[in-house]
Amino acid sequence: MDRQAFYVTTPIYYVNDRPHIGHAYTTILADVLARYHRLLGGPTRFLTGTDEHGQKVQQAATREGLTPKEQADRTVVRFQELWKTLEITNDDFIRTTEPRHTSVVKKILQDLYTRGEIYRADYDGWYCVPCERFFTEKDIEGQSCPDCHRPVERIQEANYFFRMSRHQQWLIQYIQEHPAFIQPEARRNETLGFLRRPLTDLCISRPKRRLNWGIELPFDPDYVCYVWFDALVNYISAVGYLADDAAFARWWPASLQLIGKDILTTHTVYWPTMLHAMGLPLPETVFAHGWWLVGENKMSKTDGNVVNPMEMAERYGVDAFRYFLMAEMVLGQDAGFTEEAFVRRYNTDLANDLGNVLSRVLHLIGASCGGKLPAAGALGPEEIRLRDTTLAAAETMRGAIAGMRLDLGLAAVGGVLREANRYIDGRKPWALAKAGGDMAALGTVLYTAAETLRIVSALLFPVMPGKMAELRAALGMAHIAPDMAGLKEWGRLTPGVTVGAVQALFPRIRSAAAAPELQAKTAPVAAAAPVLKKDATPLPEGVAPIEYADFMKVQLRTARILTAEKVPAADKLLRLTVDIGGATRQIVAGISQHYAPETLIGKTVVVVVNLKPAKIRGLESQGMLLAATSGGTMRIVTVDGDLPPGAVVK
Ligand code: MSP
Repeated sequence: MDRQAFYVTTPIYYVNDRPHIGHAYTTILADVLARYHRLLGGPTRFLTGTDEHGQKVQQAATREGLTPKEQADRTVVRFQELWKTLEITNDDFIRTTEPRHTSVVKKILQDLYTRGEIYRADYDGWYCVPCERFFTEKDIEGQSCPDCHRPVERIQEANYFFRMSRHQQWLIQYIQEHPAFIQPEARRNETLGFLRRPLTDLCISRPKRRLNWGIELPFDPDYVCYVWFDALVNYISAVGYLADDAAFARWWPASLQLIGKDILTTHTVYWPTMLHAMGLPLPETVFAHGWWLVGENKMSKTDGNVVNPMEMAERYGVDAFRYFLMAEMVLGQDAGFTEEAFVRRYNTDLANDLGNVLSRVLHLIGASCGGKLPAAGALGPEEIRLRDTTLAAAETMRGAIAGMRLDLGLAAVGGVLREANRYIDGRKPWALAKAGGDMAALGTVLYTAAETLRIVSALLFPVMPGKMAELRAALGMAHIAPDMAGLKEWGRLTPGVTVGAVQALFPRIRSAAAAPELQAKTAPVAAAAPVLKKDATPLPEGVAPIEYADFMKVQLRTARILTAEKVPAADKLLRLTVDIGGATRQIVAGISQHYAPETLIGKTVVVVVNLKPAKIRGLESQGMLLAATSGGTMRIVTVDGDLPPGAVVK
């Protein structure tokens, strides 16, 4: 690979579910790193995608009454839309069902089989269905999977195996000789620890009678390929392996493969041995980050505490969400997510530290310099201190990116902003601007503060591209591309450029429930709720006030009615199927006396999607429609205008 080039990958995500904060985190991290590398000027490639084969996807499809491909087609959109919303700049998005991928997997399988790296054998042992993994007698705990602790099954069948064991000694030596290969250090030790035990060969087939959703083995049509063997290949099939030699030579080996700590073995044992068997070099670094916990707990669907990145971005803004994730997590360690911590950091770092410097500079240039950036005179000791702190932060950020400590880079930028506020406090530009003040000194202060913001905005640009573009436009820097080379020099801003006004970039949030972006987008009642005082608008009789957080527990979504029919022998009930955005639900609704079934089809309604399912006349109702009644008339709640199913109603 061109040594200047930077090729970064994320894991490819399973299409059995909706994206959560863990998916968003890795992808934002890869995006931030890719953006930094683009600013550094080197060729950069950023790959993400979806893992679409295997049991998890097949099972999800069965649950939804879809084919696995339909399930994948519906779910992949959720990832693609989320990446668009989160301003992700991936250069490619690979789906493992694409022919450009499946054809490469088949070629690799055939080649390894021909060369004896894959062989057929009878297997008799333990299998964990949810994890899709085989275990030896020694691995299992009682009759349970050592990973997920669910019961394992005894399986006897012929299968195909990759001679992973053959590469064990080589891998140990490779890891020892290449300390950068597995990062951070603790994960490297974990893999070396794992390799202390003899490595077994890897079962890379699944008989079709058990699972047929996968890539067929080219040498045996009764089997499909094990999903992990297929999935890992995405990192090379996407850059032209066995298809486009020039592209492959340009990008492989990858510079950085980001993963979560739970998929360490697949990426630091299976993957390198597969590459070695193929005769390919290994990625420079596989970096395993920690997990996002919710407070101190694991995120889980059953506990209902899964953080939805789309909602966070809608509520607080994409840039603030990206910033929080990058600043809060020490790479490699776990981090706890709470909205309180989010709001605290937002208010301190963004609304206060950054917001204050910006508003002071803009306000004074507007009021006292006719909206034009003044020139600086000779720099005094205070200016020199701020300049040096700022240039040093640019250097820290450079090291932080290379050393995977983005949190430290961002902390250094925070230090600059606090220093800048202190500088402004000390130099009192508002006093210099008064009649009889010192306009030359005012120019120096404002120019110095603006120049600080030029560098800060470039350093934060990869993390908050939207807001930093706004900031740079306001400071008349829209035309100056933020490049890292420009961060070593002081004084790049041109005096005399027009400086515009900017709305508060990060308006202060009073409480988690009163997020500004949320208020702007929600209905008046929801927006008013957090600020209602005791003697505020009286409530309708018999209605008790609830906390905003209580309201937020009810998850409302738009849904499209697909079918509607009367429930036999129940004069009030209709059985509806609705699309709630990528999934279908059955809802039994008591609206039969108000609507003829056929008039409902195609309507977009509002559904409570997190109501526990209930049996009504023997039929499961998986949600509830909103409807209003008055004087014996009932009308279902619809949305004003066109919205796709699955849109969040708040
Ligand atoms: N499809 C496999 C990866 C194949 S890569 C060739 C997979 N997919 S996944 O969708 O289940 O998970 C993808 C990533 O999300 C993993 O890196 C996992 O570590 C990460 N996360 C899942 N929950 C997480 C948190 N709570 N926090 C941070 N990341 C976590 O595994």
